[in-house]
Amino acid sequence: MSEFVKLHFIALDDGIAPKAKAKKETQALVVFAATDLALSETTLKVLPNLADILASAAPAAKFTGKAKTAIEILAPSGLEFGRLIVIGIGAALSEFDALNLGGFTFGKIGSGRDATIIADFAGQDASAEQASDFALGLHLRAYKFDQYKTKKADGEEKDTTGSLKIAVSDVSATKSAWNTKIGLAEGVNLARTLVNEPPNVLFPEEFAARAEKLEKLGVDVEILGMKELEKLGMRALLGVGQGSSRESRVVIMRWNGAKKDKQPVAFVGKGVTFDTGGISIKPASGMEDMKGDMGGAACVVGLMHALASRKANVNVIGAIGLVENMPDGNAQRPGDIVTSMSGQTIEIINTDAEGRLVLADVLWHVQDKFKPAFIVDLATLTGAILVALGQEYAGLFSNNDELAERLSVAGKATGELVWRMPLCKAFDKMVDSKFADMKNTGGRFAGSSTAAQFLQRYINDTPWVHLDVAGTAMASNASDINQSWGSGWGVRLLNRLVADHYEG
Ligand code: BES
Ligand code: MN
Ligand code: ZN
Repeated sequence: MSEFVKLHFIALDDGIAPKAKAKKETQALVVFAATDLALSETTLKVLPNLADILASAAPAAKFTGKAKTAIEILAPSGLEFGRLIVIGIGAALSEFDALNLGGFTFGKIGSGRDATIIADFAGQDASAEQASDFALGLHLRAYKFDQYKTKKADGEEKDTTGSLKIAVSDVSATKSAWNTKIGLAEGVNLARTLVNEPPNVLFPEEFAARAEKLEKLGVDVEILGMKELEKLGMRALLGVGQGSSRESRVVIMRWNGAKKDKQPVAFVGKGVTFDTGGISIKPASGMEDMKGDMGGAACVVGLMHALASRKANVNVIGAIGLVENMPDGNAQRPGDIVTSMSGQTIEIINTDAEGRLVLADVLWHVQDKFKPAFIVDLATLTGAILVALGQEYAGLFSNNDELAERLSVAGKATGELVWRMPLCKAFDKMVDSKFADMKNTGGRFAGSSTAAQFLQRYINDTPWVHLDVAGTAMASNASDINQSWGSGWGVRLLNRLVADHYEG
């Protein structure tokens, strides 16, 4: 993975000076002020004249230390740094705020710039947990996907990696906390890159090759090719890919971090590397966004990266179904009937309802072969979930209240929010077919629920959650910790779910 920023932790009492080798004028010093410009003792010890500087500069900018405000003072007198950035933090910080504060801070420093940051929040030295969350926020904000630009935009720095020194009270505790989070930062950024990559580059085989790189971290990666998929009977999945000149793949990743006999947990992702809709072709406008129709699979790969990097004490299966949905002389038609791996038959009504066909076979296979303690699937499954929930919440569907509740709590803790949506018998009936066991659309009403209801026909009594991430995985609103089109949504959420309930 490319590094977007270089982080070093230094001790608060080491003396704060610009990096000797680089130009002092370009380097920034970052400090934090709480409500009413309150400065901590540590900050004042390092910078005795800060209170004076602020007293003369803050009123003009109406800066009072409110959260999410900042001032920048250039060439501050009596300081060796060229820039002094003072960031408001309001009152006390939670762990989640420290993450966002890291992102906000990086936004103020700018990419490719060097800075020294006095990590002393709300009048108290940051705990190792806070400081490492802050570092995670910096890392996530620093992510850029610009490898296909041959020129930089005006005013943008050349491709340099900024170096950030974070001054903390307990360097070794912070370093070890950060060591458990680097992989999470990389995992989120990996998921973002997979979503951002263009579909001519990232087709099923190439996606599988990227997933295979997890072997370096000790993940066992098995790639199922066409012959194996045929042999398993994954006709629902293969039907979706049959109009594409690119072969389909299923990738099974296994992280064995716990004892051999411990039941694994499983994550399944929809990986449609491009969704034209097939013969039921989509309108031209905005179709380019359908390169992100593999956001669920990207999240699963990013999550496996994160879990393996921190050697999570858990056995995990990550399974992704990779296909390209194209119109073609050989493409699947509306009216076709396919037999899924489970033996159940499906009448194709709309070839654009392809995600559920891919998931049906992968869910069945994972459940049947690995007998996991739970399955969470992620899929950019329906436009209807965007209509219902917008871009801040993913839709959550489940047959298990406990698992649903755990995810909801993890969502609030990480800011990757989920909202539970209904499943019921009446919705299930809506996917009954005249000619086969079921059809692949349920009509105009309750589109996200009937899609989930379809998936549930491939789940027996395994605790299961389906996350419809069509609104959260891509085309995201910029935030403190994300400026990327592909958001990497779900990696932090699921890492948290595992850490809180399934390790040890
Ligand atoms: N990949 C789309 C869903 C989607 C829409 C994802 C917008 C991200 C943004 C999915 O395959 C799809 O086309 N779903 C159809 C289902 C319909 C035909 C029953 C939809 O939502 O219109
Ligand atoms: Mn579709
Ligand atoms: Zn799709």
